[in-house]
This record gives sequence, structure tokens and C-alpha cells, in this order.
Amino acid sequence: PRVKNLSANDCYLYQGFWYDSLFLERLMSAQDHFIPLSTDIFITSCPKTGTTWLKALTFAICTRSRLSGSSASSLLTKMPHECVPLLEYDLAQNPLKRDCAVPLVSTHVPYSSLPKSIISSCCKMIYICRDAKDAFVSLWYFIADMQRSKNVEPVSLEEAFELFCSGISSYGPYWDHVLGYWRASLEFPEKILFLTYEEMKRDTAAHVKKLAEFMGCSFTAEEEEEGEVQKIVSMCSFEKLSNLEVNKNGMHSLDTSYAVKNSVFFRKGEIGDWENNLTPEMGARLDDIMEQKLKGSGLKLPR
Ligand code: A3P
Repeated sequence: PRVKNLSANDCYLYQGFWYDSLFLERLMSAQDHFIPLSTDIFITSCPKTGTTWLKALTFAICTRSRLSGSSASSLLTKMPHECVPLLEYDLAQNPLKRDCAVPLVSTHVPYSSLPKSIISSCCKMIYICRDAKDAFVSLWYFIADMQRSKNVEPVSLEEAFELFCSGISSYGPYWDHVLGYWRASLEFPEKILFLTYEEMKRDTAAHVKKLAEFMGCSFTAEEEEEGEVQKIVSMCSFEKLSNLEVNKNGMHSLDTSYAVKNSVFFRKGEIGDWENNLTPEMGARLDDIMEQKLKGSGLKLPR
């Protein structure tokens, strides 16, 4: 099946999830050909749940020892998506298109459709998700922006909401995406770290330490004393990243059908912005759907 209006391209249902045509073909190629490095750590998420932030944090954490004296982080001049390649785009056809010294690869691919080579590897994964209402609102702004830039009439919020509630969204159904990684994290807790945007926002410093520990590069006592954790928190804050020239005025383009301003990845960066965009009835409806879908899984997403 195929639907329009979800992105600037058509979207297709494949193995139970919806994909933009731009990524689907490459995902299929990655499923057959991608081989991870044993040191790879996968940054996994459904779109609009905090991927850009998580990429920035993990990149800053694992490159910190390279930075001394005058060498500044690449995050000051490169968009986080340029620092961490996307499996189903950057690496599907050209696995070598990466800085192998940075052991990070990102993907939005649901757990059940990941290349078998990743599932059977010892590679660690970090998953981030978010309240469905905020994820939906963020996604709608993103899609509308992308459609406007292609001179396509933007999908209305109401129409996109109906689609989202019926499971049709980029890499959705959203709940199935979350559940796939949640269940895998229960099965392989040492391999998969399951995080939420809300928890990370509420105590970013504790999460920076947790991430470093999980990634096998804990902060030393000396680093902690020198304020290294706080430096990373500040460097990757919404305030800091969204005001960098590259993120304010640069463009993120994968090919002619996908070009957006980097600034669309930095919209508000807040918890609960859905209230400014959805009616209370819409909010309650999506909450009910999520509650139903997550029932019995042991997962309760923070709001
Ligand atoms: P909003 O649209 O609610 O503002 P993704 O990176 O997965 O595409 O998610 C984008 C969401 O993360 C956007 O949410 C964006 O503003 C927010 N975001 C981007 N950078 C962030 C940061 N450094 N800190 C907190 N939130 C950030």
C-alpha cells in the first residue's frame, strides 16, 4: 500500500511500517548488505523524538578525548546529522562513507526490520522516544515545512493527525516502533539502552553520565571535577545548537526530493508543546490509543 501527504514523497508499507520512498529502497539494500563494525553503537529512534539531540550528545561524549587545547568540537560547524551517518541513507550503498573513528551510526528503522547483521552482532543500541502527542506535533511541523519547500500544499494538522492515529506516519505506527525497541531492551538490557526525551530533558547531566557509561567511555573523576559533563550538556543544549550558524542557516539535503533547512530540526525543544497545537480532545484520543497499545508491556511513557 502507498499513501501521499505523509512527507514530500509517497510512503509505502513494508514489513508492517510506513516508509518514505527515499529511504525504503536503501533500507532494503542495507538489510542485505550492511555489516556493522564490532565497535558500532546505534542511535535509534522514530523521527522527531530527539534524535538530533541524542546524536549531538553521544558524538560529544565519544569525541571528547580527542579535543584538547585549540581543537573545537565538529558540532560547532557541522549539523549533528552530518556527524553521525544514517544507516538507511548514508551507509546503505556506501558503508565506508563514515569516520570509522567515531563508532556511531543512526537509524529510524524499527527493531524488527533492522539488518540481521546488526541484530546478531554485539553492537549496543540507544533508543530514544517521546510522548506521542509531542512527537506528532513535531512531525507535522517538519512535514509541512518540507512540503512547502517543495511547493506542495502542506498537509493539514487534522488530516495528519487522523493518519497518525491510524498508524500511518513516517516509520510508524509510532506505538509499534516504540514497543519493538522496548521489548528488545527488556530482553537484552546490556545491549539496548531505552531513553525518553522527557527524562533526558529533566536531568540531562545524569543522562550524559549514563550514556558515557553505557557507551564504555565513562567520565573519570578528573573529568567530572573539571566540569566535562556540564560542558557537554551546555554544548548540546537546544539554546546553544539552535543558535549556531550552521544550524540556523545551513541546509540539510539528502537528494533533490529531500532538502530542508537545518533549523527545522531545532523548532522549540520543549515538553508539552502539543497543548499549543492540539485540542484537549485530540490529546485525550492519542493518549487513549497509546495506553491501549502499550497495555501489558510494562512501558508507560512520561508526559
Ligand atoms: P520540537 O519540534 O518539539 O521542538 P528529531 O531530532 O528526532 O528530528 O527530533 C526533533 C525534536 O527535537 C524537535 O522537537 C526539536 O526541537 C528537538 N530538539 C532538537 N535539538 C534539541 C536539543 N538540543 N535539545 C532538546 N530538544 C532538541
